[in-house]
Parts: sequence; structure tokens; C-alpha cells
Amino acid sequence: MTRSSQTGPIRNAARAPIARPKKAPPATIIAVASGKGGVGKTWFSITLSMAFAARGERVLLVDGDLGLANVDVQLGITPESDLGAVIEGWVELEDAVCAVNGGAGRGGIDVLPGRSGTGQLANLPPDEVARFAAGLAVLSLHYDKLILDLAAGADEGVMRLARSADMQIIVLNDEPPSMTDAYAFIKLLNAANPNLEPFVVVNMADGRQAGRRTYETVARACETFLKFRPPFGGVVSRDQKVRDAIRTQTPLPMLDKNSPAAKDVLEIAASLAQSIAARE
Ligand SMILES: Nc1ncnc2c1ncn2[C@@H]1O[C@H](COP(=O)(O)OP(=O)(O)OP(=O)(O)O)[C@@H](O)[C@H]1O
Ligand SMILES: [Mg+2]
Repeated sequence: MTRSSQTGPIRNAARAPIARPKKAPPATIIAVASGKGGVGKTWFSITLSMAFAARGERVLLVDGDLGLANVDVQLGITPESDLGAVIEGWVELEDAVCAVNGGAGRGGIDVLPGRSGTGQLANLPPDEVARFAAGLAVLSLHYDKLILDLAAGADEGVMRLARSADMQIIVLNDEPPSMTDAYAFIKLLNAANPNLEPFVVVNMADGRQAGRRTYETVARACETFLKFRPPFGGVVSRDQKVRDAIRTQTPLPMLDKNSPAAKDVLEIAASLAQSIAARE
């Protein structure tokens, strides 16, 4: 598969974000992290973005995996520009945004793609990470939700970006290394800022009850050792259609919006929207 392959019904084009009504509040920035790699962060970030868009919200999806970006690969898009060009100073952050499926406010989403394979962005110095986070805050003025797909691990760059968000979602599955890494990530976040209350989403669950039990295991560890209970974000079913969607580079809601995992993510978007409204 090459980065230039473009399959499925996805269309993309570079364009600046469309204007929003004046005085609309900036987007809620939602960071999606995990600790352990390969638990479904990128797939979940894409699907959550589409779910918010389906609710009529303007969404910017940012590939914040600065070392191994692959939002564009999962979407099957060929960006004209990317974060690498932004960091090199060739283009402004807002000019690297590309519209997918009509773009934000037109039924689709806007995407800020990363750059894979160069390793160039993997170890950004702290001041560059801070500049990137500040740039995202400016971009957030154009959107209702900004979803930030983060790299695996808990290095300082990842933690800084996670802390810069308004809301954190920790994705995990029922494998013990995924649970312990998620706990470690939550612990680090909590140590840096005890006010942060990351939501826990269990992915690839074999049923709702099994997913809820996985959540309880991590939540109880947090209660015992960190003295707080991370809020429940929801459960996403293990679903063969997810693999089909990634293989064919078609977002799951477009491949089959009635598949179990697509419906689960829609439900999660609805419940996150409620939590966000309750915070405001
Ligand atoms: N709900 C699900 N059901 C079945 N398979 C899933 C589900 N979610 C994710 N997967 C599988 O997990 C794989 C990894 O997903 P993804 O690349 O989104 O993970 P990631 O956490 O972003 O990985 P990385 O840490 O490398 O960035 C996918 O290729 C897909 O096959
Ligand atoms: Mg990923």
C-alpha cells in the first residue's frame, strides 16, 4: 500500500478552515492516548471525529503521533501538506489542514495530517511541542471539537500534548500490559496535574459486560493508589468490520454505520458531548 493510494469514497483537498459564527467558544480539545501501542487509538480518533461530525459538529482531527503518523493512511488520503512542512516552516498550521468528505461543517471532517517515517517529529524539543500546542489552541477557534490522536508511550512530548488538551481519553483493551500501561499513563497525568480526570474507553471488548469489568479493574487501581476514579468513557466491541475499514481505507461509519463498533463510538460521542456540556 502506498501513501498515494486513494480508495473508497474519501475525498480530500487542502483548504483553510471555514469561518464560524463570531463569539462561538473554542473547540474542546480531546487528546486520545493509551500508554501501550496498537490498542486502536488512531482508529478510535477517526471514528470519534466522524461521530461528532454526524452530530452536526465541526471537527478537526489532528495526527499528533509525531513519530509514526498514520491517520492519513487509515483514511486513504494523500495530503498536499502536513505537520512536517509546518514544523519546517514551509506552511502555516492552518494551511496544512485538509478537508475529508467535504470537510468540517459540510458533513465531513478536517484533518491535520502528520508525516510518517522520517522520525523528524518524534523528538521535538519541549519549546517546539509547546508551540505546536499553542498553534492547536488557535486552530480550535474554528471548530467545535479538536481530536488529537497521540503516539503510544508516555514520553515527555506525548504527556505535554495530553496535558495541553481540555479532555483526555485513555484507550485500552483487556490485555494486562494494556491495562498496566494505561494505569501508568493516568498516574503520570495525575501527578502532573491532579485536576485532570482522563476518561477510560475499553476497545476491542468481547461484550459490554467484559468491557465494563476491564474498566472496573483499572478504575479500582486508580481509586486505591491514586485516590480518584477515572470517569467511564464507554466500551467499543471487537468488530471484524474495523479491520475491513482500515484495510480498505474507509472510515467505519461510511463502510457500515450499523456495525457494532460504529454504533458504540456514536454512543460514546453522545455521552462525551453530555459530559462536556455539564462541565461548561
Ligand atoms: N474495535 C476493534 N475491533 C477489532 N479490531 C480493532 C478494533 N480497534 C482496533 N482494532 C485493530 O487494532 C489495530 C491497531 O489499531 P490502531 O492503529 O488504531 O492502534 P493505535 O493504538 O493507534 O496504534 P499505535 O500505538 O501504533 O499508534 C487495527 O489495525 C485494527 O486491526
Ligand atoms: Mg496510532
